[in-house]
Amino acid sequence: MTELDNKKIMVTGGAGFIGYHLSKTLSNFTDTLTIYDNLSTGKIENVTDVPKAKFIKGDILDTETLYAQEKMDVIYHLAAQVVVPYSMENPMDDFNTNAKGTLCVLEKARKDDAKVIFASSAAVYGNPPTFPTPESYGFHPFSCYGLSKVIGEQYCQMYREQYGLNITITRFANVYGPRCHGVIHDFLNKIANNPDKLEIIGTGQQCRDFIHVSDVVDALIKIGTMTTVNGKVYNIGFGKTTSILELSNMILAILNLQNRTSVTTTNISWPGDVTKIWFDITNAKKELNWQPKVTLEDNIKEIVTERKIIT
Ligand SMILES: NC(=O)c1ccc[n+]([C@@H]2O[C@H](COP(=O)([O-])OP(=O)(O)OC[C@H]3O[C@@H](n4cnc5c(N)ncnc54)[C@H](O)[C@@H]3O)[C@@H](O)[C@H]2O)c1
Repeated sequence: MTELDNKKIMVTGGAGFIGYHLSKTLSNFTDTLTIYDNLSTGKIENVTDVPKAKFIKGDILDTETLYAQEKMDVIYHLAAQVVVPYSMENPMDDFNTNAKGTLCVLEKARKDDAKVIFASSAAVYGNPPTFPTPESYGFHPFSCYGLSKVIGEQYCQMYREQYGLNITITRFANVYGPRCHGVIHDFLNKIANNPDKLEIIGTGQQCRDFIHVSDVVDALIKIGTMTTVNGKVYNIGFGKTTSILELSNMILAILNLQNRTSVTTTNISWPGDVTKIWFDITNAKKELNWQPKVTLEDNIKEIVTERKIIT
């Protein structure tokens, strides 16, 4: 018996990449799981593949629809605009979804007295001088996306302090795995289309902390079941950093393409792009009794085998 058993649980953004994996696992705990998503980037198959969940096609900014949903015990808030360059081109839209949208979800939680687990991001740190970066480093966002996540976090803290809501904040590093978007997915698509050439957007020197989605879901479930995490903020990453060039070399070595594929870089980074992400995950390991298990190399081998990419 856990804190999540038979609870009424809502996952905003449940039709997205991480939301799908989380919802699938949560449906083992409860028969009253609601996926709330406007399908702006989410996919309907991510919902139909979680058959036990009830799906509401709704926008978090549409408070009439959001508040009309049944009283929840737990809300995992993952719905967001997640693309950094888009946030730089469309800061108002990014603000509305990520900052105002989070406020709408918190109001739903306040009405229901629901526990909230908020998905924040490495982007709140910007370009920190300290590596690995601990949660205590603070906020120095380098993009509108990072700033809108900071605002979301600060509303969470305000609602906890002033309204007594039970809230935990998770900051994700670079999440990858089945159904993901992002750099690994892009590289594998490019190589499948043309194994002779791989163009890296940016300098290739950018470093990221890659964490498998199953490890992220594991941390989110632990947080949902624990009573000691109210008000806590956790970095959820692998605790290792890998440059994009190293990543491309790893992928090409696994595919046995090192001598065939020519790798080039555009050498231009995009507005809001950060240089390095490398999380200090000491707190999550100690307080959640959690440990990331999937290594990048092992997972890429699995994806390559699964996708039957030519070598
Ligand atoms: N994937 C990563 O590497 C990563 C890293 C750091 C933080 N995060 C955070 O994790 C969460 C999930 O990210 P993801 O990678 O699964 O992204 P995703 O784009 O796959 O999922 C986001 C989901 O939110 C939905 N959505 C967007 N705006 C909405 C709105 N106004 N109302 C209702 N639904 C809306 C989309 O349709 C989509 O299904 C996000 O909050 C993101 O900021 C992700």
